[in-house]
Amino acid sequence: MKIVEKLKLGQLATFLINKRLPVYNWFYFKEAFSRDLVFLLAETWGLGEGQLGVDGIGYDVHPIMLFASRVKLRDYDVEELRAAVRVLMKSKFEKLEVEVPGFVARVFPKILLEDIAFFKREILEVENEKVREFLLLGLMNAAMRCSWAHKDGAAIRVVKKPTHSLRNVLKRQLLYMCSDVERFKGKACKVTVEHCDARKLKLAEESVDAVVTSPPYLNKREYINAYRIEQQLLDLDAPASDQLIGVREGGAVEDFSEVGEFVEGEPIEAKLYFKDMFAVIKELCRVCKHGARVCLVASDGCFPEDVVDVCETLSRLAERAGFRAKRVIVVNKRFCTTPARKKVGIARESLLMWER
Ligand SMILES: C[S@@+](CC[C@H](N)C(=O)[O-])C[C@H]1O[C@@H](n2cnc3c(N)ncnc32)[C@H](O)[C@@H]1O
Repeated sequence: MKIVEKLKLGQLATFLINKRLPVYNWFYFKEAFSRDLVFLLAETWGLGEGQLGVDGIGYDVHPIMLFASRVKLRDYDVEELRAAVRVLMKSKFEKLEVEVPGFVARVFPKILLEDIAFFKREILEVENEKVREFLLLGLMNAAMRCSWAHKDGAAIRVVKKPTHSLRNVLKRQLLYMCSDVERFKGKACKVTVEHCDARKLKLAEESVDAVVTSPPYLNKREYINAYRIEQQLLDLDAPASDQLIGVREGGAVEDFSEVGEFVEGEPIEAKLYFKDMFAVIKELCRVCKHGARVCLVASDGCFPEDVVDVCETLSRLAERAGFRAKRVIVVNKRFCTTPARKKVGIARESLLMWER
């Protein structure tokens, strides 16, 4: 297994590029990788004979990620969307009783909460599910743009600022999303996304040509709580903790024998993480065709006492499961620090390249 450094690929492992791309930017998923990483891999691996238009299936267990992906992946009739936006924008405001949890009330002025409640009621009355969910995602984006929420990892700070009219922001947001639909030139292919735990994939053996994935990072749980306002706006549930990789509630006795020598002396979080990730890797191995390629975006884990190597350990576990771990391409490096900002070591973010 070769370890190479290509720090100029660093941006590909982040959401940054997607922020400027139509449709990709309909949901700001800070923890996501970029479209261009998938383009580069597809080209390198010769998927779709050098062109895109590759069928795909995506899995997640987080209701909001699934919702946003579903809305982004659909084919739309842009005239139907524009007509729905016109109707919504003509609706006459009515003041409704607003009941929201405290953490939502803190980040919106009351007048905005009333606007959100009104537009949400109007949108929920739209019968066509495709149109309804498109409008809802637009409302969520517009509301977040007007809110006082300032995200700092999993923490949400309140930063007060002048209030904009939600109606104007919503109109702009929805029209912009409509023009994205018009501008977006994808090649015909079948892409779906489903709720599924990656430790038990709903796929037949040897049915997959390639995998690009980014599991949760060790000891980084921001993604579980950072979207709770958006979740509330969309009436979505939080993800079930027993489905999340590396997360446990209660103190069940765990058997680490399968990952034994890799986790000796590591913190319990790392033990659980590698155990769950080995289950994921074994599933990937089962569903991959002979010669299939895998790119897994991973990062070493920061702990107050030490940095836990994840990039090489996952690659070794991949070899144990039946992959050939070909390369670890280090694309980002950052210092891990203690809460008092003392440097503990360097954590690498890498592309783990495997072949079945
Ligand atoms: C760090 S994010 C990476 C995001 C995403 N893969 C990307 O880069 O575009 C990890 C994702 O894994 C999902 N996840 C956590 N546990 C999972 C499981 N057991 N099965 C499938 N997905 C899971 C989380 O909900 C989250 O969306």
